[in-house]
Amino acid sequence: MRTHASLISKLKAKRILVTGGAGFIGSHIVDLLLEQGKQVHVLDNLSSGRLANLETAQESPNFHFFQGDLLDFKDTSRALEGCELVFHLAANPQVRTGITNPELHFQQNVVTTFQLLEVIRQTKTVKGLVFTSSSTIYGDAQLLPTPEDYGPIKPMSMYGAAKLASEGLISSYAHTHGFRAVICRLANIIGPRAKIGVVRDFIDKLHKTPNRLEILGDGTQTKSYLYVSECIECLILCYALTQRQVEIFNVGSEDRTSVKEIAQIVTEVMGLADVELQYSGGVDGGRGWKGDVKQMLLDISRLKELGWNPRYTSAQAVRATAEAFLEEFSTIYDSGL
Ligand SMILES: NC(=O)c1ccc[n+]([C@@H]2O[C@H](COP(=O)([O-])OP(=O)(O)OC[C@H]3O[C@@H](n4cnc5c(N)ncnc54)[C@H](O)[C@@H]3O)[C@@H](O)[C@H]2O)c1
Repeated sequence: MRTHASLISKLKAKRILVTGGAGFIGSHIVDLLLEQGKQVHVLDNLSSGRLANLETAQESPNFHFFQGDLLDFKDTSRALEGCELVFHLAANPQVRTGITNPELHFQQNVVTTFQLLEVIRQTKTVKGLVFTSSSTIYGDAQLLPTPEDYGPIKPMSMYGAAKLASEGLISSYAHTHGFRAVICRLANIIGPRAKIGVVRDFIDKLHKTPNRLEILGDGTQTKSYLYVSECIECLILCYALTQRQVEIFNVGSEDRTSVKEIAQIVTEVMGLADVELQYSGGVDGGRGWKGDVKQMLLDISRLKELGWNPRYTSAQAVRATAEAFLEEFSTIYDSGL
């Protein structure tokens, strides 16, 4: 079987824009693209991203950072200049915010995509776009693992709805304006540089109160987790190895783990004993919050047909993430990031 590195080297585009490239996943993809010798532009408004994530990238002459907003036509046009391929990651990924501020998700996760597509339509240099959609579009899927052609799709959160709306816009622009689009529906992505998510949340809480951990919901929420280095390989090869106008891939690991098991792994990695787990009980039958999907496992057969296989199970990804966070520990807590 081909190695992942050789699969990734099939990517032909020379100059690439990464929207949201100062964020968690975006900055890892930037590093990998630069390693592959690509010229990389990043457009980011630093709303949740950090320049510190791009420290290594900034040492490269092939890297250009554009601080700006996707909602601003000029910012986006400038960053897109000469780019043949776009990894579109900029978004507000905080699912819970959509409960109290749906307008924010509409602006940051739908209108931003529309504005980007408008610039692509008018500049005509872009040949392809890769979009980070989400498993949340499936809502409470009745079929696990859930394949890409599962339907009818019924998202339960504003975030999931916004991602599904963006998928539709991207598909229509790709067909009408002649560029390729690859939509990747991501499971929970974890690893170093993440500012949110259950592993980071537990470590932050345990840092403050090492003998007690509050868990949102009833702890039985069971989902698929993928380590960030695996995720970015998939984003690249799903584009590099396919040809159709619009392709859709689930991107996740092959198994799942429960919130309760994550709590156990995190406390073990932190070397804490006798931690009292306090369950909030949650809403709507143990969900962490309204719209939280309790069971999620993606069918990744389509991805595996490309020759890619996950190296980590969900639990191994959680452990590796907790270990990576603890290494960053002093930096994170000393600087208050
Ligand atoms: N992390 C996950 O588990 C996960 C799961 C499914 C999908 N996704 C998607 O993957 C992408 C990356 O997620 P992440 O976890 O790295 O989040 P992140 O918040 O770390 O990254 C998002 C980046 O987008 C930037 N941004 C936001 N709005 C912008 C705007 N209007 N103009 C320019 N830049 C803007 C932010 O500053 C940030 O750097 C997002 O689209 C997210 O919805 C993430």
